[in-house]
Amino acid sequence: MSTVRTDTGHGTPAREPVTIQKLGEMKLAGEPIVMITAYDHPSALVAEEAGVDVVLVGDSAAMTVLGHDSTVPVGMDEMVMLASAVRRGLDTPLLVGDLPFGSYEASNEDAVANAQRFIKESGCNAVKLERGGASVDRARAIVRAGIPVMGHVGLTPQTADALGGYKAQGRSADAAARIAEEALALQSVGCFSIVFEAVPSEVVEELCRHIDVPTIGIGAGPATDGQVLVFHDLLGIHTGHTAKFVKRYANLHDEMVRGARTYASEVRERSFPGPEHGYAVEPEELEAFKEYLAAESLAARSPWDW
Ligand code: KIV
Repeated sequence: MSTVRTDTGHGTPAREPVTIQKLGEMKLAGEPIVMITAYDHPSALVAEEAGVDVVLVGDSAAMTVLGHDSTVPVGMDEMVMLASAVRRGLDTPLLVGDLPFGSYEASNEDAVANAQRFIKESGCNAVKLERGGASVDRARAIVRAGIPVMGHVGLTPQTADALGGYKAQGRSADAAARIAEEALALQSVGCFSIVFEAVPSEVVEELCRHIDVPTIGIGAGPATDGQVLVFHDLLGIHTGHTAKFVKRYANLHDEMVRGARTYASEVRERSFPGPEHGYAVEPEELEAFKEYLAAESLAARSPWDW
């Protein structure tokens, strides 16, 4: 785990590391909790400097950085590697590792072992898992093993096919009641926080009155204690379709393409590198080197002479 700095080195005052207790205090004080995803060292440094409270190494990495069509293919080894890189860039936010599809569903033993990997190998502070049902038992087992767990209900991308695709959940009274039951069950086994994804704002508003732990929303309206967005969505790092709940705060993809194109054209027209990008050598050293080249007639040698 990285050491706590006394300042960020970028003129931003250092903050105390965010703890689970602190998130509870923020909820009680009505102070909004800011959570974003990060998947590598640069995105972690951005999260740190932006002063967010919670960083999730989401299994959305499968789509945002690994180029898959869904979150399903990413595995524990990849997640542990990404989370370790994020850890090296963070001092302050609480770091949550997202248990990927297939890493926790089959048994409590799998769930605990993989949660432990995030803590031991990546230095995460907590893990997240999706859904109610059997996941409630897995959450209980992980909590009992001493690892904080964040729940995730509503649209759960790992099982989007079973939910009828990437669409809002809890739009009927029965469906909303199922989400309420899942959230309350996750809370009852000790989850320290619950994410609500793509659930109607008014449903979430009613439900949040009955939830004691900090709630985090994504496409769930303003009533939750905090909000989460995917790093690549909010900064416009990728193009293409984004969910209704995404707000773009920057358009970095276009800016990156512009930079790479300018580099390519400067290389082609030989205006890069300029003299300021090169290293100097003393004139007498250069002269001596030229004499050496002339005397040795290097070009005349075959590679086999060396
Ligand atoms: O994987 C992810 O990025 C997530 C968030 C959207 C909550 O689960």
